[in-house]
Amino acid sequence: MKKLRTAVIGTGFMGRVHLEALRRTEGVEVAAVVGRESGSAEKLARGFDIPWTADLAKVLEDSSIDAVHVCTPNASHYALSLAALRQGKHVLCEKPLSVSVAEAEELVNVAKDKSLRNCVCHNLRYYPMVQQMRAMRERGELGEILVAQGTYSQDWLLYETDWNWRVDPTAGGPLRAMADIGTHWFDMAGHITGLNITSLSADLQTFHKQRRRPRQQNETFGGKLLKDQDADLIHVESDDFASVSFHLGERARGTMTASQVSAGRKNRLCIEIYGTEASVAWDQERPDELWIGRRNAPNQTIIKDPSLLLAGAQRFADLPGGHSEGYDDTFKQVFRRFYASILDPDLAPEYPQMEDGLRQMKLLDAVLVSSKSRSWIDLPTD
Ligand SMILES: NC(=O)c1ccc[n+]([C@@H]2O[C@H](COP(=O)([O-])OP(=O)(O)OC[C@H]3O[C@@H](n4cnc5c(N)ncnc54)[C@H](O)[C@@H]3O)[C@@H](O)[C@H]2O)c1
Repeated sequence: MKKLRTAVIGTGFMGRVHLEALRRTEGVEVAAVVGRESGSAEKLARGFDIPWTADLAKVLEDSSIDAVHVCTPNASHYALSLAALRQGKHVLCEKPLSVSVAEAEELVNVAKDKSLRNCVCHNLRYYPMVQQMRAMRERGELGEILVAQGTYSQDWLLYETDWNWRVDPTAGGPLRAMADIGTHWFDMAGHITGLNITSLSADLQTFHKQRRRPRQQNETFGGKLLKDQDADLIHVESDDFASVSFHLGERARGTMTASQVSAGRKNRLCIEIYGTEASVAWDQERPDELWIGRRNAPNQTIIKDPSLLLAGAQRFADLPGGHSEGYDDTFKQVFRRFYASILDPDLAPEYPQMEDGLRQMKLLDAVLVSSKSRSWIDLPTD
């Protein structure tokens, strides 16, 4: 069978995660790694025995390459994805899709016009237990959804000496905690409940109005390892912390907070969905466990075991019970479905698409407007 050929653009944290997951995706071969820093990019590519290049145009002109993965800082997603789509490549872009609604709209339209497969990497949907929550809701086991609430907390930007390109709006966009991790939470809430945010009120806080930017470059989470060094003092406006109250669909309500300054919380996405029949709660730092709450029966904590999951969730669990499936595996689940849909044009896309990325950009826009105007903002219904 013909192997699909792909290229990975960006060789930092996500570049490696995508390369590893692609190695575990049947029927796909990585034809090129596109990087900017010859040293680190070349080293990464060599480790995987894949050619490295800084020449993206050449990769996009290569008609043997079917798709590209965009794994670079947010502000470059639009130009890189657009160039790839225009050259007829299917595009899998990291989140957030862009740094503005207009950019995201254009990407959605170009992908549609050219009938190309497109994905925005909201991989966190594909933990087996997140799929179990969705399957329970689809079967009506939760009843009518009343409340969604949760947090996404990290600590890697707690100190004023912590720095990453995400702090710089020219690379990360105007929002930080909300764009970087808040969008994952909202994508998951929508995926589980099947409801869209219809209105919101947001409050943002920047605890460090100034941060020390190291003169030496560092990758995501890499700042925690750096010691004393020369640094420039930089003015910061993006959110260290955000809280959002929202309306979900017509009747449901919710609140969430996103924080990158919560000591001890490494990557803690917690989500709780309360329905008229039952509740579910899940924590990304304990991904194989799902809490189920009932008013008139004992609560349960179930452990991931494909033989005990609902059919809709079983398809996202590759390993037997007791064999953990985690963050890395969620990428594999997305990639497998993305490439299957390239091979089979009749296959309905079973992964987040650029339209979902656009929905998140509209939400971020509303968060910005709301926090500035200190008011509730309605979101367009689609
Ligand atoms: N889905 C997830 O769970 C998840 C997790 C982390 C990051 N991300 C997203 O992945 C993207 C990358 O984040 P990261 O944490 O890997 O950052 P990173 O800083 O670790 O890596 C970024 C890489 O992109 C390269 N780069 C920058 N501009 C480029 C260009 N124009 N062409 C080629 N290479 C370029 C840099 O040299 C670097 O190697 C971001 O959009 C981020 O939001 C997603």
